[in-house]
Amino acid sequence: MKGRLVSAEEQDLDTFEKSLRPQYIGEYIGQNEVKENIKVFIEAAKLREESLDHVLLYGPPGLGKTTLAHIIANELGANIKTTSGPALEKSGDLAAVLSSLEPGDVLFIDEIHRIPKFIEEILYPAMEDFSLDLVVGAEGSSRSIKIDLPPFTLVGATTRAGDISAPLRDRFGIVSKLNYYTEEELKEIIKRTSRVLEMPIDEEAASELAKRSRKTPRIANRLFKRVRDFTQVESKTLIDLDITKKSLDRLKVDKFGLDQIDIEYLDALINKFNGGPVGVETISSSIGEEVTTLEDVVEPYLLQEGFIKRTQRGRMATDKSYNHIKDGELK
Ligand SMILES: Nc1ncnc2c1ncn2[C@@H]1O[C@H](COP(=O)(O)OP(=O)(O)OP(=O)(O)O)[C@@H](O)[C@H]1O
Ligand SMILES: [Mg+2]
Repeated sequence: MKGRLVSAEEQDLDTFEKSLRPQYIGEYIGQNEVKENIKVFIEAAKLREESLDHVLLYGPPGLGKTTLAHIIANELGANIKTTSGPALEKSGDLAAVLSSLEPGDVLFIDEIHRIPKFIEEILYPAMEDFSLDLVVGAEGSSRSIKIDLPPFTLVGATTRAGDISAPLRDRFGIVSKLNYYTEEELKEIIKRTSRVLEMPIDEEAASELAKRSRKTPRIANRLFKRVRDFTQVESKTLIDLDITKKSLDRLKVDKFGLDQIDIEYLDALINKFNGGPVGVETISSSIGEEVTTLEDVVEPYLLQEGFIKRTQRGRMATDKSYNHIKDGELK
């Protein structure tokens, strides 16, 4: 999965993305409903001189959750401390982070669905009453002490809202789902990237790139960077439609933005399993990709675009995927 070009997952190479990350809400393109609501909540919190209610952001990888968490902190004029579910292994890990918070700080917990249950329970009183219950002393003589925490805002992000326990979810005052972007929005993001990286792109090329970016800003930026490579190697100074198409074809990103893993998935579903219904585990072992990769990264987009259906008995192909596979894309 690492290195997959249209993977929406963050990759080490993506440090360049940091300079592309919008800092303030005005630069954050799309997600209008989420943006408008968050603006109001931030303004109200500032008027009351209170900390912003805790925010849960969820949605597929690469849609801008981490970016939005940083923007929230910037707009509040607050510091942000960052950790993630898998990084919290012992209760002391979370206690240390919580006790380092200053009044009004934003605590960002990425992949919050992966916090172990016993650590999650420490989070409940911290979120509700800004208090930290600690057990100190050796076994036998241990006692519990209560530490007051300053008011802070927890921003949690997850690609798997369904894996968050109800008690945790209920403690977020603001729950926002990020959706796939429209082609117009992606085009705007691509033009912004073009300005930031100082590599001009024409309208048609920007549209083509937008069409083939899986409706995901991270992928749009990554493909932009690759097309820029092809352009520069040909000693050109403008990304045009011709070079865009040529580069994306060479990168095996098809006209719907599907790559070889998507095609293998659809091909297996149609040709090995007669269009389904078939379980994701079966598809996973057939094409040698992990179930979580299929569920978190591959399927959400195929579902959204109507290439597959999810039924009680498993995944099923649709007319759209039959037509696409029949066309022989990428084969
Ligand atoms: N609304 C937006 N406007 C402009 N650029 C954006 C927007 N959202 C995301 N991006 C760009 O896409 C990149 C990926 O976004 P981000 O890292 O915030 O995604 P994420 O949802 O946190 O992904 P993951 O689930 O993998 O953590 C950012 O570095 C940024 O350059
Ligand atoms: Mg992120």
